[in-house]
Parts: sequence; structure tokens; C-alpha cells
Amino acid sequence: MGGSNPYLSGSEIKPPKKKYKIRFMPMNKVVEVDPAQLPFGDTGLSGSILDIAMHFGIPIDHACGGVCACSTCHVFVKEGKETCNEAEDFEYDMLDTAPGNTIESRLSCQCVANGEKDLVVEIPGWNKNLAKEGEPSK
Ligand code: FES
Repeated sequence: MGGSNPYLSGSEIKPPKKKYKIRFMPMNKVVEVDPAQLPFGDTGLSGSILDIAMHFGIPIDHACGGVCACSTCHVFVKEGKETCNEAEDFEYDMLDTAPGNTIESRLSCQCVANGEKDLVVEIPGWNKNLAKEGEPSK
């Protein structure tokens, strides 16, 4: 499922120009993002953490299909957050409904890194897909 939210501008997104890595926790799986291969799919913004996670088989719940209309894709960007697009007010509104919201919180469907640094992304333990499906095989 995919689509876009007409209330979001997406104007501050700077897609990556070089390869970078994302380490997903707690499964400690590292993936390399090659901008030449983006977008991977249509789940969330092109090149978003959710888009990348889905491509590499990393389960993150995304009840609204990646259009910033829920908070189930909530993740913590532990490192490299400064290289990501600024969250819009609409995303902050959704994050306010997410459990465990911190300054590291982002909606993975709306968070696009510019590739200037590697990221460390933690998927909350209460993520429904992670709890239901377990860790992906390596
Ligand atoms: S999947 Fe619903 S806000 Fe990201």
C-alpha cells in the first residue's frame, strides 16, 4: 500500500547523492543504501527509512501505508538524525500520539536522510510487526 499525503509539502527533502548505511536495532542489521537504486518501493516517502526497511525485509509496522496518518512506523533515529529532513508539523502531530516519543523520534515513512552520515535506527520494542513476526532471517 502506498500513496502520498496532500497536506505535506516535502519541500525540505534532499535525497542522498552517495551511498550510506543504516544500522537497524535491535536486530543489528546493517544495510547499504545506494541512491542509484532509489526509490525501492512506494511505502512512505521515496528513500524514507520505511521505504528502505521494507526493501531489505526489516519489519516496521505502517498501518496507514506511509502517508503520515498514523504513528505505527515510529522509530528512534539514534545517530545521524541531523542528516534527515526536518519533520513537518503534521508529523509532529502524529508523533504526539506515539508511545515513548522522544527527541530522537521520527515517523520512518517521513524521514529521508541525505546520506552525508550513516544512521542508527532503533525500532521500538512495541512495534506490532516486530512483536508479531519476530526478527527477519539474516
Ligand atoms: S506509516 Fe502511518 S505515519 Fe508512517
